[in-house]
Amino acid sequence: MKIAVFASGSGSNFQAILEAQKEETLQAEVALLVCDKPGAKVIDRAVAHNIPIFVFDPHNYNMKAEFEQEVITKLAEHDCSYVILAGYMRLIGKTLLQPFEGRIINIHPSLLPAFPGLDAIGQAFDAGVKVTGVTVHFVDQGVDTGPIIAQQAVTIEDGDTRADMQRKVQEVEHALYPKTIQSIITKKMKEVSIHE
Ligand code: GRF
Repeated sequence: MKIAVFASGSGSNFQAILEAQKEETLQAEVALLVCDKPGAKVIDRAVAHNIPIFVFDPHNYNMKAEFEQEVITKLAEHDCSYVILAGYMRLIGKTLLQPFEGRIINIHPSLLPAFPGLDAIGQAFDAGVKVTGVTVHFVDQGVDTGPIIAQQAVTIEDGDTRADMQRKVQEVEHALYPKTIQSIITKKMKEVSIHE
């Protein structure tokens, strides 16, 4: 099973997915990194691991449909069955959603439906919550609204700073995301073998 990871930032989740692949706790191959931010740190991580990269600048296109069409071509070239969003800070349009329906997954650093959208950790911190967490969900046309696949809570102690909250949330992300991707793939493989 080949997967593509879409990321725009540091890529710590991308790294965690690669490590799970290496340790074989994730039986999938990261066959492509898609990045919409030339210069993002995640690109260096992909280069270091010899992962094919498709990097583009959305400003060079007139419409989302144009770059999504190119992305679809790359996904086909690299035989990717699933799209794993890991800090890809952009809504997926219908050009990509339709052919990959049920096969695009996102991770969000809060217990959805609380704190959707940008800077979920900052939103949770400012709200003073004592429990926040991580959500893995299927992607639909909304902002962090698709069906929830897995969630894990993170407890915030008195005196924890925003940085502490971020560290705790990311630690959970790095374990939960590969594990959840693996369970989705395992389920899919079973369905395929039942229908064969
Ligand atoms: C993560 O917190 C993820 O939940 C959110 O974007 C962040 C990406 O971080 N969607 P990184 O680039 O994987 O370090």
